[in-house]
Amino acid sequence: MGSNVQPRRVIIDTDGGVDDAAALWWALTDPRLDLVGVTTVGGVVSAAEAAGNVLRILDAAGRRDIPVAVGADQRVGLAPSLRRADFIHGDDGLGNTQRPMPQGLSPSPESARDLMLRLCAEAPGKTSIVALGPLTNLAMAAADDPAWPARVQELVAMAGSARSGGNALPIGEANVAHDPTAAMRVVEAHWARPPLMVGLDVTHRATLTDVEFALLAEQRTPAAAFLDAPLNFYRTYGSTFTAPNCPCHDLFAVLALAEPGIVTDAPVLPLAVDTGMGAAWGTTVVDFRAIAFARVAGSTQEQPAGFHPWRIALDADVVRFRAALRGLFGEE
Ligand code: BDR
Ligand code: CA
Repeated sequence: MGSNVQPRRVIIDTDGGVDDAAALWWALTDPRLDLVGVTTVGGVVSAAEAAGNVLRILDAAGRRDIPVAVGADQRVGLAPSLRRADFIHGDDGLGNTQRPMPQGLSPSPESARDLMLRLCAEAPGKTSIVALGPLTNLAMAAADDPAWPARVQELVAMAGSARSGGNALPIGEANVAHDPTAAMRVVEAHWARPPLMVGLDVTHRATLTDVEFALLAEQRTPAAAFLDAPLNFYRTYGSTFTAPNCPCHDLFAVLALAEPGIVTDAPVLPLAVDTGMGAAWGTTVVDFRAIAFARVAGSTQEQPAGFHPWRIALDADVVRFRAALRGLFGEE
């Protein structure tokens, strides 16, 4: 992973789950990334509990210097009622490992949105965000400062599903379903470049196999030692839609920033979120007609009202993803 280029400044917004933990370990150990702050949001666990989990990881990784700010538990708009994800992530979001809180470490007094705004103002156009939970904090930051999205270098959001069905709802992915209005506000914000939606279309393909779990069990690296028990807990129900292999949604999203080639197909397509209260409430809607129309010479398809251009990750280099994971777990 060695490189001479300047590492990318990145803020991670997380809801404190097991795959979030794996994503954080990646960000902390990849020299191409400079994790400058972590913000938390209620989702898998509460925003305060998520901050506790982040502090546990930062402590274990020897990075107690990175600021962690607690964000929102309340939602920007009405949201469908969802089953708690404790059966997937454990009651504590870390597979019921109940790791003790590190001594002398606490979240920053700043709110999540203030930390995001401040860190982006310190290096405008040079700070990226990877969103790994409900998009509430991002929507609130954009409401506080509508010019902020244009200062974000790149946004990668583990969110949604273009054509792969749902996990939290029949066709709804959890991070969008938790706060559909926030997701829509983030979709329509004025970002510097079309953000990347990393949804179930890729995270249900890029999975961990027995090979990665066998290496994980050897606990060769601090990341593997920390993640072994949580990922084994997560594997049972986290693999519901991908059995026998196990997704690691949020880790894939961080990798998509660090190593863009891991996403092998990501066309820019019109994206919207269903914020109505019907059967598709809390789901992403991608207009694939644009691809079909583009193939027909002279034919044009206008972007439908309420849709905005995003890069939609549709395919992944699964071999490369698994190799990257084995690197995190200590494969020489
Ligand atoms: C997303 O929902 C959360 O449970 C996971 O951490 C991930 O961010 C997957 O739909
Ligand atoms: Ca998450």
